[in-house]
Amino acid sequence: MRWRPSRLHFGADYNPEQWPPEQWPEDARQMVDLGVSMVTVGVFSWAALEPREGVFQFEWLDDVLDILDTHGIRVDLATATASPPAWMTAQYPGVALVTQAGIALSHGGRQHHSPSSSVYRRKSVELASRISERYASHPALELWHVNNEIGCHNPYCFGEESERNFRSWLEDRYGSIEALNDAWATAFWAQRYESFEQIAPPRQTAIGTAPNPGQLQDYRHFSSQQLLSQFVAERDAIRLHDAVHPITTNFMSMRHITALNYWEWAPEVDLISADHYANAAHPRPEVDLAFHADLTRGFSRGEPWLLMEHSPAAVNWQPRNIPKTSSELELHALSHIARGSQGAMFFQFRQSRGGSERFHSALVPHVGADSRVTRAIRSLSKKIAKMSSLASVHPPAARVAMVFDYPSQWALEQENLPSKDLDYLATIHDWYEALYDMGVRVDFIPKPSTQSELAGYEVVFAPLLHVLSDVGADALDDYVSGGGILVTSCFSGVVDDTLLVREGGYGGKLVRETCGVFVEEFVPLREGERCPLSSGGIAKFWTEIARPLDAEIYATYEGSQVPSGSLAVSKHQRGSGTAWYVGSFLERLALMELFSEVTAGLDLPESGGEGLELVRRGDHLFGLNHGHESRRFGGALIGPGASGYTVQGNDVESLP
Ligand code: GAL
Repeated sequence: MRWRPSRLHFGADYNPEQWPPEQWPEDARQMVDLGVSMVTVGVFSWAALEPREGVFQFEWLDDVLDILDTHGIRVDLATATASPPAWMTAQYPGVALVTQAGIALSHGGRQHHSPSSSVYRRKSVELASRISERYASHPALELWHVNNEIGCHNPYCFGEESERNFRSWLEDRYGSIEALNDAWATAFWAQRYESFEQIAPPRQTAIGTAPNPGQLQDYRHFSSQQLLSQFVAERDAIRLHDAVHPITTNFMSMRHITALNYWEWAPEVDLISADHYANAAHPRPEVDLAFHADLTRGFSRGEPWLLMEHSPAAVNWQPRNIPKTSSELELHALSHIARGSQGAMFFQFRQSRGGSERFHSALVPHVGADSRVTRAIRSLSKKIAKMSSLASVHPPAARVAMVFDYPSQWALEQENLPSKDLDYLATIHDWYEALYDMGVRVDFIPKPSTQSELAGYEVVFAPLLHVLSDVGADALDDYVSGGGILVTSCFSGVVDDTLLVREGGYGGKLVRETCGVFVEEFVPLREGERCPLSSGGIAKFWTEIARPLDAEIYATYEGSQVPSGSLAVSKHQRGSGTAWYVGSFLERLALMELFSEVTAGLDLPESGGEGLELVRRGDHLFGLNHGHESRRFGGALIGPGASGYTVQGNDVESLP
C-alpha cells in the first residue's frame, strides 16, 4: 500500500492528552493558521487510552480526530504503543528490559520494555488492533504510525525471555549445535556448547575479556529482527481492519544509530519515514543533512519517503541546546524535501509544560504564537505549500552508489580488533563528505548479493566492507568484470558473516582476485601518527604490508612503519571494469584527488561551490546556501538560507 500524497505535507507530533479538551479547537485553529496539513497523534497515549488493564477509553480521541477533521487536518495515527503504562510495569514485572549487567529497568522514562516480552507483545497488538478497528474509516486518517522510533531506548535486552527467543533464533539459523560451534569457533577458550539450552545472550562476562565475536554478531542480528517482529505484529493487526491506508514507523536513520538493520526493515513498511535531529556541535551540518536524507532515500528505493520529525529550534537532550536560526530551520527542512521527502514534519506542535521535554522546542512555544519560531514556521510552511507539485516528482537514481552495511558496522564496534581507529561510520561519512564536496550525488545501497542489484551504477564505493559472504564477494566481482568501477578499502572482505577470518591473504576473493592485491600483515599507526604516500598524499590510522598480484600501483607507503614500497593504493583492470583498493585512510585532500581520478571522464554534475548546494527535484532547483555570504549562481544571487528556482532547460528563474 504505497503512499501517494497529492501535496507536500507540513506538520508535527501533536500530544492532545497533555492539554485540557478546551484547548483542542484552539490548537486546530492555530494549526490551520500555521499551514499545518498533517499531525501525528497518539504516540504516547497508551495510559490515556487504557488507563487500567482492559479498560479502554477512546472517546477523547474520537473528539480530537473529529476536531482535526473539521479543520481539514490529516492524521498520522499512532498505535499508541511507544511506552507501556504503569499498570503493566507493576502487574507484569517481566515486561521490563534487563540490561547487560542484569538490571531490570523501572517505569518513569519511556520504552523501558523488553522487545522480547510476550506480555508487551500481546497487549500492544491488542491496542493496535482496537485503535485500527475504531478509526480505519475515520475521514481524517492519512497514515498509520506504528509504535515510535522502535528500539530507540531498548535495542538490546538480556533478560529471560530474550534468552529464550535468542536460543530459538539460533536454532532456526544453524539447525544443529555443531553448526553453531563451527560458526562461532567455540573450540577457542573452551566455549563449546553441547545444546542450545546452554546459550545465553552475551551478558557481561569476565573482566578484561569480551564475549565470543560470533555470539555478539548474531545477537545484534537477532535484536534487530526481534524489534522488527514487533513492527510486523502491530502492522498485521492493523491490516486485519484496514486494507487501505499506508503503514509506517519512523526510522532513526541518523548515522550514529546502528542497532537496527534498516535494509531488512525497509521492505516491511509501506512508507519509509525517518527522524532527523541535528547535532548543534556538528562541524558541517549541511553534510549531515544530506547524508541523512540520502540514506533515508536509499531505504525508500525510489518510493516516496517522509521526514517525520525534526526540531523547529532547540532540542532538550544535547549538552548545549542551541536553537536553530530561522535560516537553519529552512535549510534543514528543504535539504530533505530537495532529496525527495514528501514534506517536513516536526516534533512537536505545542511545547510541553512538564516532563523531560519541557525545554524542547515546538511550533508553538511556551511564549505562544507571537514568537520568532512560530513566525519562521509560518514562513516556511508558505514556501513549502508553493512547491506542492513536487509531490509527484521523485529524485532519479544517482549514478554513484555507496554500500552502507550494518553487519560491518556491528563487527567493527566489537573489541579486540587491530586498531580502535577502524571506525565504520566515520569512514563512510568521510568518503561521503569527499563526494559531497565534489558535487557528486550518491545513492546508499545495501551490501549486494547479486550483480543485478548494482546495475545502473557507474561507480560503487564500499569502504571498510569488513563482513562479506562468498555471495557478496561474487556479486562485487561480477559487477567489476561486467564493466563497473568499484572502490573498496582496507580491512574489507576480511571475515565472513560470523566473523571467521578468511585465510591466505586478507580480504579473500574481494581483495585478492577483484582488486588483485595480496595483504600480508596489518600495521596500524599510533595515535596521531601519519605515513606519507608516494602520490604525495598522507595516510592516517593504518598501513599494511601488501603487494600487487596483478594490480597497478597508484601509491605506496613511504614511512618507516612498513617496508618502503608496500602497496597503499592500487587500480586493477578486471574484465571490462576496474577495482580500486585503498589500503589506508587518506586525509581529505588525498581522498578527493583519488576520487577525482576514479570518476574522471564520467561527467558527474558539479555543485554550486563552497557552501552552496544545488539540488534538483523535477523542474525545481533548490539553492541551499549553508554559508554566511551570498553566492552567485548563473544570473542569481543566492543569500544565506534556502531559495527556490524553476529550471527551464538551462535557464534558471527565481521563484516569487
Ligand atoms: C524523538 C522522539 C520524539 C521526541 C523527540 C525529541 O526521538 O520520537 O518523541 O522525544 O525525539 O527530540
